[in-house]
Amino acid sequence: EKGGYEYFMLKEIAEQPQAIHDTLLGRLSERGEIILDEVRLTDQDLRDVDKVFIVACGTAYHSGLVAKYAIEHWTRIPCEVELASEFRYRDPVLDRSTLVVAISQSGETMDTLMALRHAKEQKARVLAICNTNGSTIPRESDAVLYTHGGPEIAVASTKAFLTQLVACYLIGLHLAQVRGVMYADEVAAVVSRLMETPDHLRQLLDTMEDVRQLARDLKTASTVLFIGRHVGYPVALEGALKLKELAYMHAEGFAAGELKHGPIALIDEGTPVVCVVPSPAGRGVLRDKVVSNIQEVRARGARTIVIAEEGDEAVRPFADHLIEVPRTPTLLAPLMTTVPLQILACEIAAARGHDVDQPRNLAKSVTVE
Ligand code: F6R
Repeated sequence: EKGGYEYFMLKEIAEQPQAIHDTLLGRLSERGEIILDEVRLTDQDLRDVDKVFIVACGTAYHSGLVAKYAIEHWTRIPCEVELASEFRYRDPVLDRSTLVVAISQSGETMDTLMALRHAKEQKARVLAICNTNGSTIPRESDAVLYTHGGPEIAVASTKAFLTQLVACYLIGLHLAQVRGVMYADEVAAVVSRLMETPDHLRQLLDTMEDVRQLARDLKTASTVLFIGRHVGYPVALEGALKLKELAYMHAEGFAAGELKHGPIALIDEGTPVVCVVPSPAGRGVLRDKVVSNIQEVRARGARTIVIAEEGDEAVRPFADHLIEVPRTPTLLAPLMTTVPLQILACEIAAARGHDVDQPRNLAKSVTVE
């Protein structure tokens, strides 16, 4: 049932190219336009939206953080992302023209469900992104976009995360299209890059042997830090969450620009720092800023594990360990950069002798608030 893999988690990581492909399938017209037919909101409803709130928990929340960059960039609609457990209890400003996007793999997470019920009471429109057909969250939503990731058995979420990203990209592009903010050919250009990601991800997955070796070296670290900027920041948070939940190690993700405002004090001789570097092609300035952050932590003794785009030679001198990922447009890069971090956490946990698929104290779906 594990298809020759030692853990469900490794199997599910390997299934990610197919999961992305399946989530894109049937959603694109021949002209490269987005068709979201399970979305029971009219184009007029979508044109009326003046604010987007994304609510979710854990890994799904991290997909929402990535989505914010894409949705605001493409649609120019303000978008906020909030932990479902916080959203519900702080009296958020919602009305008919607010679109609340609830993201949940299981569709049963109580915090997310309570947040969506609250949003509905306030007359907001609710769109669910969900991996489980017929579960509670999509049933209670005005519309649903299913991720076609297939069942996820390992407690730690992997393929669901990547398919949630794909669903968010589709929603962002669709909103931009119906509102006339992006031309059809611009949408089609992004879509064609999205369609390349399964192949690129397959290539990346074939180069992960080094990460396994790295995991053995890092298994005794007392803390591992993760830094990133822009969409690399939620990737850093996700890398840290995976390591905490699977390896039971102290791990934290930071916005790289925040380091000097406090966290840099944590860095000691040999502290591993995983650095997610943006593509030099998209936003060169951002890449250069991360490179200086890498130099700063290295000057304080950090051992740097750098995730960067293939051919980005400028980062090489500052990387104690370099993990290269295929070239991908900046906003889509988390579909690549997250994957080595999933494998790293899985392999460190295995090297420490933990049950990768069933980490202690955790359940696959959290049906209590
Ligand atoms: C982490 C993980 C959790 C879930 C969170 C939300 O690997 O799996 O953080 O992402 O509990 O679950 P869903 O998506 O089912 O609402």
